Amino acid sequence: MKTILLTGGAGYIGSHIAVELLMLGYGVVIVDNFTNSDPEVIARIKNITGKNFDYYNVDVANQKDLSEVFDKHAINSVIHLAGLKAVGESVEKPLEYYKNNLYSTLVLCEVMKEHGVYHIVFSSSATVYGKPKELPIAEDHPVAPTNPYGHTKAMIEQIFIDLTGSIDPWQVTILRYFNPIGAHGSGLIGEDPNGVPNNLFPYLSQVASGKLKQLTIHGDDYETPDGTGVRDYIHVVDLANGHLAAIKSPVPNNHYAIYNLGTGKGYSVLESIESFEEACGKKIAYVVGPCREGDVAECYADPSKAKKALGWTAQKSFYDACVDTWHWQRKNPEGY
Ligand code: WQD
Repeated sequence: MKTILLTGGAGYIGSHIAVELLMLGYGVVIVDNFTNSDPEVIARIKNITGKNFDYYNVDVANQKDLSEVFDKHAINSVIHLAGLKAVGESVEKPLEYYKNNLYSTLVLCEVMKEHGVYHIVFSSSATVYGKPKELPIAEDHPVAPTNPYGHTKAMIEQIFIDLTGSIDPWQVTILRYFNPIGAHGSGLIGEDPNGVPNNLFPYLSQVASGKLKQLTIHGDDYETPDGTGVRDYIHVVDLANGHLAAIKSPVPNNHYAIYNLGTGKGYSVLESIESFEEACGKKIAYVVGPCREGDVAECYADPSKAKKALGWTAQKSFYDACVDTWHWQRKNPEGY
């Protein structure tokens, strides 16, 4: 069976992809510098799957260390997840985001080329679309990021696309995530943000657990049915399986494909609170605050291209994701 290298494989998304790959019998190699993940994740992945795999505490930007990993393993494909990913932080520290996300990608491409590995699946984001001009968002929607994090994703997409025009036989699949939420059904792996969560769902679950006092709803006067922000929340296990579908259906040499990974349905903040309250059996305290800088009113996917080309659609419900988020939170009140 093929061996897949996961950069950032110990992270929230990467760990769920590793579980799904291992359960299907793929070989997995994880490279992670653990700046935004915990080594405990490795043991949890092995516990869930009963499978062994190699991992390396390596920064993708370290060409020598990364090359040594490729020397040791016959890598068939790479899923590139490693990178800084907080929108607000990227506005405060743009240089750090450009240096880390772009430079590490260039090193990865160099090392892949040196080892004759040309199949890559790239973790991109709906953030590249910026403020939606139309909804639902299809892959041909204009790319117009509004923050440095989104710009790095759009620039990396372009790097990979340009590689497919070179003499080397690059095969590139770009996956644009909408809003990943939820956790593996075992409750052993899940989202474990550093510090106070920026994102809605980890914040909701920490209010439900009592770790945080109340949620602040960032604005309730948007042009949406209930005035609060609407997003396309996709269960992280569905997202992981979107990567497996991409691995199983590589594009031809010197070609690329771009797919949205979303459910195609939007839920508001108030709907999220209501669903999470039902899932956890507790009331979620909240106040309404001002709109958050950079937020858009609505964002949800047209996922039909991935269904047609990859045979992939999200299978789990929004409520499933609320239940699985709460299960993870209860089993891991302090994260890993
Ligand atoms: C969702 C909704 C907020 C927190 C971001 C990145 C995106 C991707 C996913 C990386 C919005 C509201 C949130 C809170 C709130 N990350 N909210 N109170 O901003 O859609 O997307 O995370 O790829 O790139 O941009 O996700 O979870 O922060 O916000 O009211 O405390 O919840 O206003 O409407 P977002 P989010």
